[in-house]
Amino acid sequence: MNAHDLHAVAVAMVEKGRGILAADESTGTIGKRFAGIGVENVEENRRNYREMLFTTKGVGEYISGVILYDETLRQACKDGTAFPKYLADHGMIPGIKVDAGAKALAGFPGEKITEGLDGLRERLAEYVKLGAKFAKWRAVIDINDDIPSDFCIRANAQALARYAALCQEAGIVPIVEPEVLMDGAHDIARCEAVTGETLSQVFRELHNHRVFLEGMVLKPNMVISGKKCPQQAGVEEVAEATVRCLTRYVPSAVPGIAFLSGGQSDAVATAHLNAMNAAFELPWQLSFSYGRALQAPALKAWGGKAGNIETGQRALALRARLNGLATLGEYSADMEKAA
Ligand code: 13P
Repeated sequence: MNAHDLHAVAVAMVEKGRGILAADESTGTIGKRFAGIGVENVEENRRNYREMLFTTKGVGEYISGVILYDETLRQACKDGTAFPKYLADHGMIPGIKVDAGAKALAGFPGEKITEGLDGLRERLAEYVKLGAKFAKWRAVIDINDDIPSDFCIRANAQALARYAALCQEAGIVPIVEPEVLMDGAHDIARCEAVTGETLSQVFRELHNHRVFLEGMVLKPNMVISGKKCPQQAGVEEVAEATVRCLTRYVPSAVPGIAFLSGGQSDAVATAHLNAMNAAFELPWQLSFSYGRALQAPALKAWGGKAGNIETGQRALALRARLNGLATLGEYSADMEKAA
């Protein structure tokens, strides 16, 4: 893929009215989700669950691409169609999570560095053959009174940029995901400051590593109050703070920004995205790349039972449609009740 093709894929990933389904939970993470509904974490259950999501009728109208995990990229529908082919045939671009997870950063208690650069060039070459057109790498920045350190932000920004440069060399669009966690007791102002500093360092490193901004997608957190903060910011405040932060630090050459949901409830994640798109004219598309906020109701409705597949698919289709509307600023909370 040349620069022109990288740009075309990035643009397609954040096309208005659509967004990305993050279905790239590692075996450990999907195990936690399955434990919540009492389903055993074995390969056949993981395959069945992912097949339910991907074969939801009409979901491609609202889902532009799907992030897969290594195992999932190699799995197939019951009729033998490989998942990446099934998705591509139904208008959804297949992508692949390539990081090896966030590990403790030596010397910096409580902080994490994402691993997975060793051998990445070779893995990317194989993923291209398996049909992946884009990749994802997630860096994690946690907040408390003493962290994040400047060093942790810089080390993660450098790893993200090395990953992004390797992706583009391989002809794959990188999703660059620096996630500032919402777990703490910090207020929204602190989230804005840390998110701004993180984005500033990420784009400095992307520039240093000669990453082609027109051929990438940014996947940031929204600027929101920490989960344990007693003063929770409302929807309008979150929309304003997030847009202010992004316009300060994200170059307009980037085609699109696809938010992670990060533990927000499904309806709140949709309302936040909608508020931004309804109120602001922006240089990039603002879309979604949700994991939990798209999947949670579908996972619950499915409950591991073959007889519940249609109910699970209806739940996913609803979240996909409402988030698709939120990329246009056309969602309203009444639609939740109507459904
Ligand atoms: P959540 O939307 O559940 O945060 O997941 C998105 C994701 O891909 C995190 O890497």
